[in-house]
Amino acid sequence: MGTQAAPATSEIAAVGVIGAGQMGSGIAQLAAAAGCGVFLVDSDPAALSRAVASISSSLGRLVSKGQLSQAACDDSVKRIKCVSDVQELRGVDLVIEAIVESEDIKKKLFVELDRITKPSAILASNTSSISITRLASATGRPSQVIGMHFFNPPPIMKLVEIIRGADTSEEVFSQVKSFSERIGKTVICSQDYPGFIVNRILMPMINEAFWALYTGVATKEDIDTGMKLGTNHPMGPLQLADFIGLDVCLSVLRVLHNGLGDNKYSPCPLLVQYVDAGRLGKKRGLGVYSYGRSSSSVKP
Ligand code: 3HC
Repeated sequence: MGTQAAPATSEIAAVGVIGAGQMGSGIAQLAAAAGCGVFLVDSDPAALSRAVASISSSLGRLVSKGQLSQAACDDSVKRIKCVSDVQELRGVDLVIEAIVESEDIKKKLFVELDRITKPSAILASNTSSISITRLASATGRPSQVIGMHFFNPPPIMKLVEIIRGADTSEEVFSQVKSFSERIGKTVICSQDYPGFIVNRILMPMINEAFWALYTGVATKEDIDTGMKLGTNHPMGPLQLADFIGLDVCLSVLRVLHNGLGDNKYSPCPLLVQYVDAGRLGKKRGLGVYSYGRSSSSVKP
């Protein structure tokens, strides 16, 4: 640990969130509710409109439960500025990207952010499993690049997993930890290895649930009920996989398999087949379960 005192958290006053999907909109909501000015960036205007609706509805639930005043809710929404261009992030103190889980696309974004943002800005990634060290190496400020891994739904889940890249400075770690606590989260710290802590453990469990289904051990309902009632998980592993997105689960498993080189992380063929068939989970209306869309020819 460094001896330098951590800078005051209030230094993070303006935050840029890139990607207005479920994760990005939830992160923007948390930062705005903590009093930060937020730029929510997405090139798709429809995604931005959906994000604003979802943030309003999520804050509205807190108002109806008496946990937030209507004025505080309105102020939080007003603090979020939706923009289509990352150029708007020139003045922010912290950028959190929550875009598609592709190393190449993220690296290109980090190169651009390094060019656009002020020299003191911290660049964080919400990646589920991609190496922070490799993303940092695309920039000229690797000591200011860090992983901030949120969990879905971000307004509800109490955890932020912070990942130090090989060169992340102690000062940046302290600032991001204080910021995460300020937005109401408990922090855990992971070194930069594939899947970090949570996905390293969660994804093999989800994969094993697919193997159990694939090899006919039990029905999907019994696998999920078993894990819900047998281990007190809020959702069974197959239902959770649908909630996360089967494509995301597959991509994390591939990162684990390639990065750790052990066949125990090899994705179950049924998971691969579902993704190939476009059965990506709840967001597409069809995954292991059906959410209104009828099943294709793929049968468990
Ligand atoms: N905003 C505000 N409040 C919300 C909300 C939102 N977006 N979503 C749910 N809530 C609130 C509800 O109002 C309700 O509050 P109450 O208990 O005070 O009435 C409470 O949360 C529970 O919601 P629901 O009753 O609608 O539904 P459930 O009881 O089924 O809970 C759940 C939903 C919180 C999603 C719960 O099923 C759960 O915890 N599931 C597991 C989620 C999980 O494991 N997420 C992590 C996935 S891994 C990940 O994201 C990492 C990535 O890298 C893969």
